[in-house]
Amino acid sequence: MSRAVRRDGKRLGFVPTMGALHEGHLSLLSAARASCDIVTASIFVNPTQFGPNEDLEKYPRSFERDCELLEKEGVDVLFAPSVEEMYPAGAVTWVTVEELSGKLDGRSRPGHFRGVTTIVSKLFHVVEPDVAFFGQKDAAQVAIIRRMVRDLNLPVEIAACPIVREVDGLAMSSRNAYLDPQQRKQALVLHRSLMRVEKRVDEGERKAAKLVAAAREEFGREPAVRLDYFEIVDAQSLDPLEDVSKGAVAAVAAYVGPTRLIDNLVLREG
Ligand code: PAJ
Repeated sequence: MSRAVRRDGKRLGFVPTMGALHEGHLSLLSAARASCDIVTASIFVNPTQFGPNEDLEKYPRSFERDCELLEKEGVDVLFAPSVEEMYPAGAVTWVTVEELSGKLDGRSRPGHFRGVTTIVSKLFHVVEPDVAFFGQKDAAQVAIIRRMVRDLNLPVEIAACPIVREVDGLAMSSRNAYLDPQQRKQALVLHRSLMRVEKRVDEGERKAAKLVAAAREEFGREPAVRLDYFEIVDAQSLDPLEDVSKGAVAAVAAYVGPTRLIDNLVLREG
């Protein structure tokens, strides 16, 4: 199908997801709709990006509802393969973006990004999109996929879309469904820590160490939430920065009860 679309001079947009769709996903679909003639979405809960003690089994699945939402968003094609289709028995081939895959979430979730880059490259081969849309919500994922595309000369353009939030600031995530009402309130500390850092940057603070300390202080006030990391990194290399400069991202991950949440903010320089 992709070839026929391209032969007709049409632009094919692709939005890969793991389903349990929310407005964050829908924003990617509308960005795709706005700049592409044909929009394909995928729903595949990719087992290889979950660690052995992670939430693969209980990851929210709502296929019927997702299909209705996709139809409403005007998605032309849905690709929803089975695990056997994507991983034939005995598959031993991986796509790994070395170094970057061990940073941020990759440090706490060994093998996670190897699973992501392997499935995304497989999906790119099946769908053959001109442009693929990803959320800035997963800042490390965007950096790693961009690097994979560059390193492997994949003929696809990567578009990153802004984080969609609930009205109180919590970044939308399929995993928010795990939170009970009390945890839902506690989870706001992620966004609060980022806002605090942004304010300090606006006031002129440039030292990453000072900014990280301010963020940690915010977490100190919410002891029920366990901080995994708070880092200020370069958006492309994911390396920690000493000073906030162009392309700096403040990135945070924390456990609210057993639920691991992430968030981030692109920092303006002065
Ligand atoms: P999933 O978590 O379903 O997310 C699919 C896409 O939606 C990702 O690009 C993610 O960054 C984006 N997204 C999620 N929450 C968002 C929000 N609040 N605002 C904006 N975008 C948001 O990310 C994955 O699936 C998987 O790793 C995948 C790329 C599909 C590979 O399996």
